[in-house]
Amino acid sequence: MPYRNEPPIDFTTAPHKDKLLAALEQVKAQFGKTYPLYINGKQIQTENPLASVNPAKHREVVGYVSQANQKHIDEAIDAAKKAFESWRHTSFEERAMYLMKAAEIMRRRKPELMAWQIYESGKNWAEADGDVNEAIDFLEYYARQAIRLGKGVEVEPYPGEDNRMMYLPLGVGVVIPPWNFPLAILTGTTVAALVTGNTVLLKPSPLSSVMAAKFVEIMDELRLPAGVLNFVPGPPEEIGDYMVGHKDVRFVSFTGSKTTGLHIDETAHKKAEGQRWIKRVVAEMGGKDGIVVDETSDPEEAAAAIVASAFGFQGQKCSAGSRAIIHEAIYDKVVEHIVEKAKALSVGAPAENFAVGPVIDEKSFAKVTGYIEIGKKEAKLVLGGTADDSEGYFVNPTVFIDAAPDARIMQEEIFGPVLAVCKVKSFEEGIEVFNNTEYGLTGSVFSRLRERLEYARQNMDCGNLYLNRKCTGSLVGIQPFGGFNMSGTDAKAGGPDYLLNFVQPKTVTEQF
Ligand code: NAD
Ligand code: ALA
Repeated sequence: MPYRNEPPIDFTTAPHKDKLLAALEQVKAQFGKTYPLYINGKQIQTENPLASVNPAKHREVVGYVSQANQKHIDEAIDAAKKAFESWRHTSFEERAMYLMKAAEIMRRRKPELMAWQIYESGKNWAEADGDVNEAIDFLEYYARQAIRLGKGVEVEPYPGEDNRMMYLPLGVGVVIPPWNFPLAILTGTTVAALVTGNTVLLKPSPLSSVMAAKFVEIMDELRLPAGVLNFVPGPPEEIGDYMVGHKDVRFVSFTGSKTTGLHIDETAHKKAEGQRWIKRVVAEMGGKDGIVVDETSDPEEAAAAIVASAFGFQGQKCSAGSRAIIHEAIYDKVVEHIVEKAKALSVGAPAENFAVGPVIDEKSFAKVTGYIEIGKKEAKLVLGGTADDSEGYFVNPTVFIDAAPDARIMQEEIFGPVLAVCKVKSFEEGIEVFNNTEYGLTGSVFSRLRERLEYARQNMDCGNLYLNRKCTGSLVGIQPFGGFNMSGTDAKAGGPDYLLNFVQPKTVTEQF
């Protein structure tokens, strides 16, 4: 079958709605279960498992997850090393089949998988649908890319010699995903490493580790050989540096914040005693993404894209458009539409499918509300600015206007429903303001002028640029995803080059 993206389903219509409502009930009935570590094909329950809570009702425990210590990491690395010896010799096709089967299981279990992340991550129905679809897409896409990679590449002919170049796996890898695409990024980063013949220690975010346990359940159903995938949730402060710095770890695939990414990069690149390679680090990090709107644009259309990009999943996407940079000639009109559209967003529990749900946890609530206080000093508040954490971590969509380009709310990743709007005198100034951050992940430009769109194509400094549309929602295989500068190593997840991050090419010459 040729690759195609998993189609979104409108779960607000029957019979899909009934299926999701039933799944929400069934999943709720399973709250409070404890999930094990998974090392060398064996489940291990530990003492003091960590509670993962519903951010919309923080007194509600979704599940408890066993916590690995350094001894467990040693066991997992040993198991992964041993499993590598045979897994590396399985064919790309055979490994790809595991991914295609996992995709089928996810399709079958979709309402249930959605329900878990609606409760554990605070995604509304469409966002949860998108996340499960993206996980399925990664499985289907990387399976096909692996089969292609397994064929090697053609090199030029040379008389009297048979020359070939092939791709070999690297070894034992540590995969560290974030919580905000709890199934999609975790699945994509893990299976990219597995399908290329590596073995993995998967350390999920503590904030989405029940979803991670569900992924491991699915991979277990496929009977992956023991030790190929080892599930080691645990406190980052205890096991993080230990696993990243371990001599037997060959690569680290990290997605998360800039601060953690830089720390991991530094730790990984310090050579450990007995280490026999330079570790490879893939680090996809944060963003301060934005939308530039020129004076030829339709103000309402631009405002709709700005609101979708800023407030989708409460602004908790690395791709979130947290800055709007607008030409002075249509500034007031665009702002008016932004406020009107953002005001119309309802705030409430994701299980009831409100447009805007909670931010992920207490720490995030404190960070976002802290930035709102900073914003009040730096710019003019025209919407929101209020929050309530009595039941869940709810922050109302917040809009600041007249922000200066170097204001902190224009420079720093807030990762919440807070938009900063900045006025510029010209299109070129708008691009300069856009480029004026240390990040470079996503950006959009709105213009009706071809030369402006081409100028943006050449000059906007970001890994994913969108012309005349929102800056979130990249599709696997269609819009390979990754950022410049402090947004990361630009590995381009969901793209044709992504698997190359997890292999080493070998050239063999035979003289005859
Ligand atoms: P985070 O940096 O807090 O955590 C990411 C992961 O790193 C988690 O699994 C965490 O437990 C782990 N971790 C933390 N300290 C560690 C250590 N010392 N050693 C090893 N692991 C450690 O990020 P987050 O809050 O989970 O995710 C949000 C961030 O991720 C945002 O900055 C967002 O922009 C970014 N993100 C980037 C992309 C991308 O593709 N560029 C995609 C999604 C999210
Ligand atoms: N790939 C995700 C998006 O584009 C992060 O929104």
